[in-house]
Amino acid sequence: MNPDQIKEHLRFAAELGVAGISRDTAWRRRGVEGQESGSVPPIPPVFASAAEALAAVRADIGDCTRCKLHGLGRRQIVFGVGNPQADLMFVGEAPGADEDVQGIPFVGRAGQLLTKIIEAIELTRDDVYIANVIKCRPPQNRNPDPDEVETCEPFLFRQVDVINPPVIVALGTFAARALLRTLDPISRLRGRVYEYRGAKLIPTFHPAYLLRNPASKREVWEDMKLVRDLLQGKR
Ligand code: URA
Repeated sequence: MNPDQIKEHLRFAAELGVAGISRDTAWRRRGVEGQESGSVPPIPPVFASAAEALAAVRADIGDCTRCKLHGLGRRQIVFGVGNPQADLMFVGEAPGADEDVQGIPFVGRAGQLLTKIIEAIELTRDDVYIANVIKCRPPQNRNPDPDEVETCEPFLFRQVDVINPPVIVALGTFAARALLRTLDPISRLRGRVYEYRGAKLIPTFHPAYLLRNPASKREVWEDMKLVRDLLQGKR
């Protein structure tokens, strides 16, 4: 459908009394499931704004006990932060100790470096949206287990669908693997643009990796210049 056809479709839907649409694909799936089982499909929720739709995702997470991390010392769920209508979204791995205390992603040392990376392309943290694959801190900052990723990633996918950013940066192997459904390491994935749910996805090194390997900042700068060009429609 081209934009005019979409407008016409929405105008027609409004005439039928549809007050809004949900950008949450989970509702589309639920409708199909409902029809398959012969029951009446649920009425999709109507959100006045992306912020409200994100709040609904957060409410669905609740005081989550879906995976073992809730019993392994997490203090709080670290949902996401920033502009719900951002053109650029960063996806990291999982909260660390500082994030677990403050409830905000990327506020520790790696987070401070991420802030500098964002500012290097003349944006601020308020311009972008930042979230993680995993919403709870793994003990001793260990890597997330596959079952933890599997349990938590649907909430990230819903965040992506609500924000619907044209450009996504996957920070490190876990984010890139979760989003791109690959087992390749970040070193093999970076340096290319991927199509992801209508967005351009750029995988790059995680800021925590950069703290240990400062020489790789050069590659991240190359990736961020690509991000800037994509945002400015130059590529
Ligand atoms: N590392 C991440 O991947 N996410 C955070 O929020 C902090 C550190």
